[in-house]
Parts: sequence; C-alpha cells; structure tokens
Amino acid sequence: MKPETPMPRLEMADLRRRFGARTAVDGVSLSVMAGQVTCLLGPSGCGKSTTLRMIAGVERPDSGRITVDGRTVCDGALWVPPEDRSIGLMFQDFALFPHLDVARNVAFGLTGPKRAVQERVEELLERVGMTGHISAYPHELSGGEQQRVALARALAPRPRIMLMDEPFSGLDDRLRDEIRDETLDVLKAEGTAVLLVTHEPAEAMRMADEIALMRDGRIVQQGAPYNIYNAPADLAAAAFFSDVNVIEGVVRGALTETPFGQFLAPGVPDGTAVDIVFRPQHVKIDFDRGGRGPNPTAAEGTPARGIVRRARFMGAESLVEFQMDFDGSILKARVPSVFLPRVGMPLWLMVRRERCFVFPRH
Ligand SMILES: Nc1ncnc2c1ncn2[C@@H]1O[C@H](COP(=O)(O)OP(=O)(O)O)[C@@H](O)[C@H]1O
Ligand SMILES: [Mg+2]
Repeated sequence: MKPETPMPRLEMADLRRRFGARTAVDGVSLSVMAGQVTCLLGPSGCGKSTTLRMIAGVERPDSGRITVDGRTVCDGALWVPPEDRSIGLMFQDFALFPHLDVARNVAFGLTGPKRAVQERVEELLERVGMTGHISAYPHELSGGEQQRVALARALAPRPRIMLMDEPFSGLDDRLRDEIRDETLDVLKAEGTAVLLVTHEPAEAMRMADEIALMRDGRIVQQGAPYNIYNAPADLAAAAFFSDVNVIEGVVRGALTETPFGQFLAPGVPDGTAVDIVFRPQHVKIDFDRGGRGPNPTAAEGTPARGIVRRARFMGAESLVEFQMDFDGSILKARVPSVFLPRVGMPLWLMVRRERCFVFPRH
C-alpha cells in the first residue's frame, strides 16, 4: 500500500481581510502539520495577529477558507463558532482567572467525569512542572509560573491546534529562553499542531520547525529556519534576521565585479543592478602587511582594505565597523571576541562566497 500524504491539521487557503482602506491580510495560504511548530514571523503590523484571529474564529475573513483536519470551519458560506473549532489559544495577555486556584484554572475548559478531569489536570501540571503549586492562586505565582499554568490550561481540552500570539513577550530574557524550551517540549509531547506568531527572529528560530515569513499581509517565504536564514528570498528577508552588509554591482556575463572580486549572478541579464548581501559574521578579517593584504582565494575572493571606525566588545564576539578604502562606505563584521582591534587600525576584509546573496536591486 502506498503511504498516504499526511493531512494538514490546519489549512488556510487565500485568506483575506481588509479594515477600511487597509489590507491587513492579503491572500495567506499555509498548512500546519500535527506535531509541528509553524511560526508566522514578521514585523509589527504585517497581519500576523489578524491571521491568527481568523483561524481562532474571533475575526471573520473577507474571503478564503480554513480547514481543521480536513473539515471546513470557515469559507464564503460556512461559519463554525470559535468554541467548536478545537483550537487552544495562548496570547500575550494570557490572564489566568484570579479567583481560581491553579487546579481550577487548568480544569476550566474541561467537561466530563470529575475523576477524569482531575487526572488530566494532574497530568498537565506534572508536564509543566507545577505539581507543587496545585492549590496556589495566580497572584502567588511568578510570571514564568503563571505562563506554565496558562499553557496547561490551554492544552487541557486536547486542542487539535494551538495558536500562540507572542506568548513569551511579557517575560524577562533569561526566563523566556527557559520557558520557550519547556513549552516546546510540552507541545511536542502532546502532539499538538502549533501556529506561533512572533516578530522576533530569534524566537522563531528557536521554536519553529517551519517559518512563514510575512510582510504587508503576505507570506513572502516559507521553509525550515536553516533554509530561510541561509537562502533568503530577497534583501528584506535577509535583513530581517540580522544586520547585513550590502555592496552594489552591475551584472556582465552572469558575473558582477566588485572590490571583493567577482560574484556569480547566474541567470541575471546583463546590465542589471544587483545588491551583494552578506551577514557581518561572514566577513573574515586579516592583518595589514605594510599596505598589502592576504592573497585572493577562490572561496574568499579578493581582500579589500578598511580602517576600523568602531570596535565593541560584546562578550562572545566583537562588533567591528570598517570604513572601506574603495568608496568610504561602512561595512560591519562580527569576529570572535579574542580579537578587539583598535580604532584607526587598517585591516583587510574578505567575504565568504558561499555566504553571499546576490539580489537584483528594486
Ligand atoms: N480591528 C481592526 N481595525 C482596524 N485595523 C486593524 C484592526 N486589526 C488590525 N488592524 C490593522 O491591520 C494591520 C495588521 O494588524 P495585525 O494583524 O495586528 O498585525 P501584527 O499582529 O502583525 O502586528 C495593522 O495595520 C493594523 O493596524
Ligand atoms: Mg500582533
């Protein structure tokens, strides 16, 4: 027997939503598989929350279709109310019920025999490491503990899909990383399909199996974090994940000539203006030897000289800004912090070819 293609737990097809003259969501199509965390990542205002709210059923799309396990919950004709969509929600203001203790908060959405409810509550509190606080009230808990209870509460009714909108943004940095990892473990153990919204690339990379990068109401790129980071679709996609350096070129014969040597531009027509884009951590630096740099190599091309204008020690690495001899522009490098050059020092920069992106300029 041929193995069947697994059915997406959640599917959106061409979702659209306008608010007056403003198109908040402009044709979003996306699938989320069981046991996977898919992340809608994009800058503030790009339409992430509106998309999530339409899936939850608290916002109506102007058009498009949403299916859960192959069952349509919303299209032009049909409308399933939020409580019948088997969707769990966890938002930034995840307020627990202040007058209920932890056990009753988690049991809130559960129905059925008392014994079964109690077992489910205990199972979840165990899973989120809150067994010791079963009778505590929310005001007696820290932010991180409240977050764990909120997760248990959202998961208690075994939702088919979990929607999370910036759920960790209220937590301080250290705690946030810990809670993110724990949350991920719990979600994986429950096998829930997760759609997580965030504007933070680091959070998306840490949590997601799949990232859908959103801009102006559309998904501009989708893929595993590794692929999105290492093969961005355009300059804006590259720049969303880190600082980038950009140098300009013009294509002649599928190549562009720059002060760092030649870059391949396969399939790009002659005369096209291109941006050569690379991240600061992919700049290699070398010492100046009486006005000369290292010899060119195939992987790193031609070295170009710059003068250190700024150097900051950041702990694990140093951030160094160079003013380039060739046109006075500023390029940034991140180098291991064993090295902190002084301002005014000449150094030679090389760019690793396999880490560069060449995009036609818009
Ligand atoms: N209820 C609303 N009424 C009017 N405009 C809205 C409403 N909800 C969202 N918007 C607008 O839609 C756009 C997308 O908002 P949102 O989905 O909240 O973005 P994100 O979550 O990515 O920050 C924004 O321009 C926002 O101002
Ligand atoms: Mg939002």
